[in-house]
Amino acid sequence: MPEANGKKITIARYNDGLFAFAYKCPHASGIMSEGYINGLGNVVCPLHRYTFSLQNGRNTSGEGYYLKTYLVEKRQDGIYVGM
Ligand code: FES
Repeated sequence: MPEANGKKITIARYNDGLFAFAYKCPHASGIMSEGYINGLGNVVCPLHRYTFSLQNGRNTSGEGYYLKTYLVEKRQDGIYVGM
């Protein structure tokens, strides 16, 4: 799994865009990379299926949690994540 600044994160590709967010779900620490992205473009946690916006981490299934997101940019020499 990717790391940025010594911190494990999740990087996802969706519709040719790259998105970076927390390694673990804010609800009960599900491993977000084991989830999937649904048809609305939200990431789904594998444990209890709460969903979060890829853009801003908003908990789109309404439980009130917030997934930490990071700016991410692909450059010629690699993928950069703003911590
Ligand atoms: S741990 Fe992610 S929804 Fe519960």
